[in-house]
Amino acid sequence: MKEDLVLSVGGSILLPEDENVSHIKDIAEVILEASKERKLYLVIGGGSTARKYINWGRELGANEATLDDLGIETSRLNARLLIIALGRAVYSVPAKNFDEAVSAGNHYPIVTMGGTHPGHTTDAVAAMLAERLHVKRMINVTSVDGVYTADPKKDPDAEHIEKMEYDRLIEIVSKGERGAGPNIVFDPLAAKIIKRANIVTQIVSGYDLENLRKTIDNEDFSGTTVSSI
Ligand code: UTP
Repeated sequence: MKEDLVLSVGGSILLPEDENVSHIKDIAEVILEASKERKLYLVIGGGSTARKYINWGRELGANEATLDDLGIETSRLNARLLIIALGRAVYSVPAKNFDEAVSAGNHYPIVTMGGTHPGHTTDAVAAMLAERLHVKRMINVTSVDGVYTADPKKDPDAEHIEKMEYDRLIEIVSKGERGAGPNIVFDPLAAKIIKRANIVTQIVSGYDLENLRKTIDNEDFSGTTVSSI
């Protein structure tokens, strides 16, 4: 068996805006193939469904912690959809906490989780799970092809960064927004956890599935690698 891996999969990747399930099927195929050689722990995000519910809850007057709960529930809902697409190789429910994920991993090649507690995103859950499992490499599967010097959707001068140290990532993501449902490339808490546990983190686009396969197989890939060097 090859090394165990934790993948943080953005909800926006599973269900792109057109709300078509074909991408889930294609991602499930890549994951099933990779799980023949290694254990995979997938932490799924809430994506546009989370943002929709968080916006509605905010309009209705909910506080940030209550909005976070909406995000957590939608991430679990998305994880359930992926579980359906993965079939029998996966633990049949999203693990609610790290203990459950660890024990499920002793029996299944694939385990999923959604969010856990208010105050962070599923990237941070993925980093905590990787630390807990002593996993040394984590992949953040997101809607952009890596980390840029600024938000590439807003700033035309933003430059792609291929390799960076943990501290540089912490500096870049700490400039982002606060509150429920932020949309930054990587959670600042997750960035601090990968630094303290020295978890090499590769940030890749979830739309290019051949590139995702290469990343999982630790081949040359296109994206950003964050490590201690
Ligand atoms: P996501 O992890 O989906 O955040 O959690 P995101 O950055 O919007 O990621 P994408 O778009 O899926 O890639 C959605 C929201 O759920 C709450 C937070 O409010 C977060 O912004 N959440 C999630 C928690 O409060 N705790 C968790 O453990 C996870």
